[in-house]
Amino acid sequence: MDTKHTVLQTLEKNKGTAVSGSRLAEDTGVSRTAIWKAIASLREDGYSIVSKTNKGYMLSTDSDILSAEAIGPLLRHDVPVHIFDSLESTNKTAAAMAMDGASHGTVVIAGEQTGGRGRRGRSFYSPKDTGLYMSIILQPDHDISKAVLVTAATAVAVSQAIDLVSGKKSSIKWVNDIYLGNKKISGTLTEALTDFETGQISHIVSGIGINCSTEDFPDSAGENAGSLGGGFSRNTLAAAVIDNLLDAADHLADRSFIEDYRARSMILGKEINVYHTIGGEPESAVAKDIDEDGGLIVELADGSLDTLSTGEITIRLK
Ligand code: BTN
Repeated sequence: MDTKHTVLQTLEKNKGTAVSGSRLAEDTGVSRTAIWKAIASLREDGYSIVSKTNKGYMLSTDSDILSAEAIGPLLRHDVPVHIFDSLESTNKTAAAMAMDGASHGTVVIAGEQTGGRGRRGRSFYSPKDTGLYMSIILQPDHDISKAVLVTAATAVAVSQAIDLVSGKKSSIKWVNDIYLGNKKISGTLTEALTDFETGQISHIVSGIGINCSTEDFPDSAGENAGSLGGGFSRNTLAAAVIDNLLDAADHLADRSFIEDYRARSMILGKEINVYHTIGGEPESAVAKDIDEDGGLIVELADGSLDTLSTGEITIRLK
């Protein structure tokens, strides 16, 4: 790591506390002039760094620029984190990286997405610096053909992380939407990559979009779109989501996250409309349970039970 990034890592670790120029110089093995230049360059990048007489440099607590230097030290899992200012879609870039041999757990984050993708061909509104747009490459070592299981694991990982970092109480709308009250604050898009020769799934890309402090949404985001309201660090949120999801990926086979999925569900026991096609006629049902594969068990109007497990279904609370 070069001087600037080492300095940033130390300042992020000590956010809100001054670190002396001599300690920074010692840690990095460079002169205090080089430290001063690194601080100037970080300020140019937009970091709010206060110089405190006789105490050194302090990164402001409200600094919220996404960086691998900030996220890395917060992680329990040792995985590469790649940050981009702007991407068309983190899922698209992550898929290309996976094809190029990126390892299990590799993380791709963008400050904004110019073509953020949602489920069923929809777009995901991803404006600059007010959200967390992230994809994680997974190569779970057991049968990974059950994509809906990874989708459910991702929803639980995101909902848990949001609650931990924001202090709020989110819930999950089957299969992949995270809500705060009646507002959708996050969506996830799980995509599988297939090995052309074996026909097997080689990687799964778990894409996560969280509206942290976004205020104005276009009509395309849907009338339920909302945001968490900010007041927390997006780096801390990213680290919590990454660790949670990588933990869950290690336990896909024992499905230990399903219990929490059920507990966080906002639809169990409620009447819902099931849409089998976009714009098609809905079918009335009652959401009864989540099965061990993350499928939604519903009771239909004639009293029969059905399990919804395809990503091509949309449901709405009545
Ligand atoms: C949905 O609500 O329909 C799913 C939205 C998923 C959005 C995330 S943002 C990061 C990743 N990259 C994308 O293009 N989409 C996902």
